[in-house]
Amino acid sequence: MMRLVDALNFSSKRILVCGGSDGIGYGVASAFADAGASVAITGTRPRDSYENDFSLFTFHQLDVQDADAIRSLASQFDSLDVLVNCIGAVLWKKGEFERAGFEQILSINLSGAMQLCTDFYPTLCKSRGCIVHIDSVASINAAVNNPAYSASKAGLVQLTRALAKKWGHSGVRVNTVAPGMVPTKMTQNQSGPEAEARFSATNPISRFGSPQDIAGAVLFLASPMSAYVTGQQLVVDGGLTL
Ligand SMILES: NC(=O)c1ccc[n+]([C@@H]2O[C@H](COP(=O)([O-])OP(=O)(O)OC[C@H]3O[C@@H](n4cnc5c(N)ncnc54)[C@H](OP(=O)(O)O)[C@@H]3O)[C@@H](O)[C@H]2O)c1
Repeated sequence: MMRLVDALNFSSKRILVCGGSDGIGYGVASAFADAGASVAITGTRPRDSYENDFSLFTFHQLDVQDADAIRSLASQFDSLDVLVNCIGAVLWKKGEFERAGFEQILSINLSGAMQLCTDFYPTLCKSRGCIVHIDSVASINAAVNNPAYSASKAGLVQLTRALAKKWGHSGVRVNTVAPGMVPTKMTQNQSGPEAEARFSATNPISRFGSPQDIAGAVLFLASPMSAYVTGQQLVVDGGLTL
């Protein structure tokens, strides 16, 4: 039987972090690489267009609105232990109140997530692997200017529960992590020093979160430490939703 102190050694594991090109996903991918894993990441643009250092990773270009591209990516993996879905998008300036904008966000945050799960499921079955999504506290607290984002993230939580129930028998666990506020390019219009001071004054843990804070939860859910945990949302928000 494995000792729990060895559970965070991922050295024989193959991990795919979809949306690992930047922000939280990049932090998650870096943490897995640091734990010895072989890590692949995706981003929407060609590899050379990013400033982040991808030398520790294999890179794949992927837009999850393209069903064929997801299918093609899955066909390139003959083995996989952990699928992490950090992909997420949001529209500002009331874009999510238009039908086209609403559907675009649902397509990226929810339909794309579903197809990633179904297309990688056969490979994950072989390893009795697991899936970890990144949803959001917007699945709990309504994001008043982002109805599509809120709805898609709430949907992702229930998708996690449904797939966990369906696939538990085959040894595939499915869980999701709900970050609070983490400065990234997605949140750059909400995360300057003044915003952080306001946030820190009221949030129980008096600071914004970091990609590493989220990575800790993802590694836990991808490790044997959580072998009996499936279908769960782990909120990592410094107490924001209390
Ligand atoms: N930051 C926060 O405070 C916060 C809070 C709660 C939840 N989240 C969630 O955390 C996850 C990571 O977000 P982040 O804050 O790290 O934002 P980010 O830095 O903008 O990263 C988003 C990732 O998703 C990818 N992506 C966007 N649209 C895509 C598409 N159509 N197809 C495939 N990939 C796409 C991006 O690729 P490119 O780099 O090529 O654009 C990037 O890798 C998201 O699910 C987000 O909703 C973030």
